[in-house]
Amino acid sequence: MKYDFDKVIERRGTDSTKWDYMPGIPRNNDVLPMWVADMDFICPQPVIEALKEKIKHGIYGYSSRSSSYFESITGWLKRRHNCEIKEEWLTHSPGVLPAIFVAIMTFTNPGDKVILQPPVYPPFHSVVEGNGRKLVYNQLKEQNGLYVMDYLDLERKIDNQVKMIIFCSPHNPGGRVWNEDELLRLGEICLKHKILIISDEIHCDLLFKGYNHIPIASLSEELAQNTITCISASKTFNMGGLTTSANIIPNQQKRELFNKTLESMELDTGNLLGMAGLEAAFRYGDEWLDELLEYLEGNLNYLVKFLKERIPQIKPMIPQGTYLVWLDCRELKLTPPELMSFMINKAKVRLSGGKTFGPGGEEFLRLNLACPRSTLEEGLKRIEEAIISA
Ligand SMILES: Cc1ncc(COP(=O)(O)O)c(C=O)c1O
Repeated sequence: MKYDFDKVIERRGTDSTKWDYMPGIPRNNDVLPMWVADMDFICPQPVIEALKEKIKHGIYGYSSRSSSYFESITGWLKRRHNCEIKEEWLTHSPGVLPAIFVAIMTFTNPGDKVILQPPVYPPFHSVVEGNGRKLVYNQLKEQNGLYVMDYLDLERKIDNQVKMIIFCSPHNPGGRVWNEDELLRLGEICLKHKILIISDEIHCDLLFKGYNHIPIASLSEELAQNTITCISASKTFNMGGLTTSANIIPNQQKRELFNKTLESMELDTGNLLGMAGLEAAFRYGDEWLDELLEYLEGNLNYLVKFLKERIPQIKPMIPQGTYLVWLDCRELKLTPPELMSFMINKAKVRLSGGKTFGPGGEEFLRLNLACPRSTLEEGLKRIEEAIISA
């Protein structure tokens, strides 16, 4: 391998949310963080060089997006996902969550209903409820150790107040990479009931062997016109702190409305470093990503074997994509606060508590695999020892 993903890089004391700001835990602690979805790996060198160039210049004034920036996104989608989009369909935002917020403000009114498919990424819940819209839960079902969508429940829950679905594809935390049949079935229901699809595809590049990501908007012209797809280089290349993302909105009217809200909030100004980082990553990051995916697969295999042999009480849902693993802790027979407290105070690891992902997540924890193997090994050993001595 050309890149050294085994290298342990000190992140404490760098204002890292994951390492320095674990909720309820003092800054200087001995807890190993395996929660927030960022990686303990250094970015690809071309990204670092692109940022250095900008920093070196010393003037950090307002910046706009060049045609080469746009080409880096369209080129990436074509190369990695065989997905052709037009540059003019692209809009921008300082992150995928801000984009979802803008979509909610633009396409729904207070009191309207928005569908989520829990257990799902916690901020989805607050971005809906926190802005006065009503949550409708279409809970995922477990089938043969994987999450699947419950279409009957979805149709039952739809009424004329439902205006939008926030769809997570690939799914965080379950790691599902939805297949064509699943996407078509969901799309058909949304089209039938005029429900706008916000497809959060931030994890779309993080795929384990044998899985391909299909953007739901790519499946038909009707779906393209009814979908806002949110993408970013931030998960793929570990650049969450650069707050830059892109949205694909093929429908002109929707795009104009979205941009109007974005501009009214002054959210369209580009982040100079974020734009440089995204362009470099999407232009030159293929080789780094290919190696990263291999490394993550190695970490996943390590974790699965470790749990099976040494902590059989905890069962992983095997992810098809993302670098997150959803751990079924039902056999530990602990309440959600007991489970979190056990991991933090006894095992000295901080994972993401499943309850925050909504119904169905209560007895699960989410573990982040994107760390050097030695860190993963240390985290798993800590959990093993805590369980043995409990
Ligand atoms: C599904 C999903 N959407 C959005 C985000 C956050 O995106 P951003 O930092 O671009 O707002 C995350 C981060 O973990 C995520 O997992």
